[in-house]
Amino acid sequence: MAGTPFYICGTENYSKPVQPFTLPSFAKINLGLRVAGKRDDGFHDLFTVFQTVTLADRITFEEADEIVLSCSDPRVPVDGSNLIVKAAEALQGRFGTEKGAKVFLEKNIPSPGGLGGGSSNAAVALLGLCRLWEIKADVEKLLPIAGQLGSDVPYFLYGGTATGMGRGTEIEPIDEFECDSLVIVTPDISVSTRDAFAGLGAASLTKDESNRILLNYRFEAVNADFRTAELVNDFEKTVFAAYPEITAVKQKLLELGARTASLSGSGASVFGIFDKQETRQTAMKALGNVSNWRSFAVATVSRDQYRGALGWVP
Ligand code: C5P
Repeated sequence: MAGTPFYICGTENYSKPVQPFTLPSFAKINLGLRVAGKRDDGFHDLFTVFQTVTLADRITFEEADEIVLSCSDPRVPVDGSNLIVKAAEALQGRFGTEKGAKVFLEKNIPSPGGLGGGSSNAAVALLGLCRLWEIKADVEKLLPIAGQLGSDVPYFLYGGTATGMGRGTEIEPIDEFECDSLVIVTPDISVSTRDAFAGLGAASLTKDESNRILLNYRFEAVNADFRTAELVNDFEKTVFAAYPEITAVKQKLLELGARTASLSGSGASVFGIFDKQETRQTAMKALGNVSNWRSFAVATVSRDQYRGALGWVP
């Protein structure tokens, strides 16, 4: 686990009562995702490179007696099944507080979509509620809670460019990939992550076999230049076969001049990397004419920008 421990939310700077505040909850894409094999616990061992992008939800936190969540999108559940509520309850349990919170989620990230929207919300809820409840926690303390909430949640305690190994929860920041001309396209299709993993029919591997494969993937990734590298996502084969429309999204992005395009997570979102802003602009215009596809012009967010936006105290 790389990185010096840093406090997410020192209490020193906050006077009581804590004023309502709003934090961004960024989306991620996967600059490659390789699945090694099945584990004994039913999960899969994988290697991925996570990258934060500028597409973001916004979460507002306010003091309250109970945990109450509301959302701008009526399709998003706001009961105990929402990861924000689960994060709040987990934090209450871990730090023995009975404080509540009024939380408002402005939803902009398509969900589900392979962009980590729910996982990002969960991690930002942990950070935001630590601040609201004046809990002094560092990343090391929050990581186990994050891992219980979901395989992608620990990554969102770091942000920027980082690898994820094992279940996806072992995070290592790597050299930043910078790009200001990305396009994400999300067709109106809901891919179940669980089914996508099951569809791979991955072999059951011993820990040693799995580690050997993952370390190879890691070696390739840390030496890759993502500006020129071909991106590999092991879900593409089965997800594209099951949903031809997602294949069409990738083809469209390539036709419109993307240097490369790839499925993000288990989809349905596909992102394209463009070399020039002008080509990206023309592509965005053309994509605007396709109904049922949501298109986003985004840029990468570095680790420092991520921490800065979330107001972490180093
Ligand atoms: O951890 P998360 O809730 O995001 O995972 C959703 C589902 O995806 C899991 O229930 C599991 O079926 C599958 N999964 C997996 N291996 C992983 C991550 C997720 O099989 N590394």
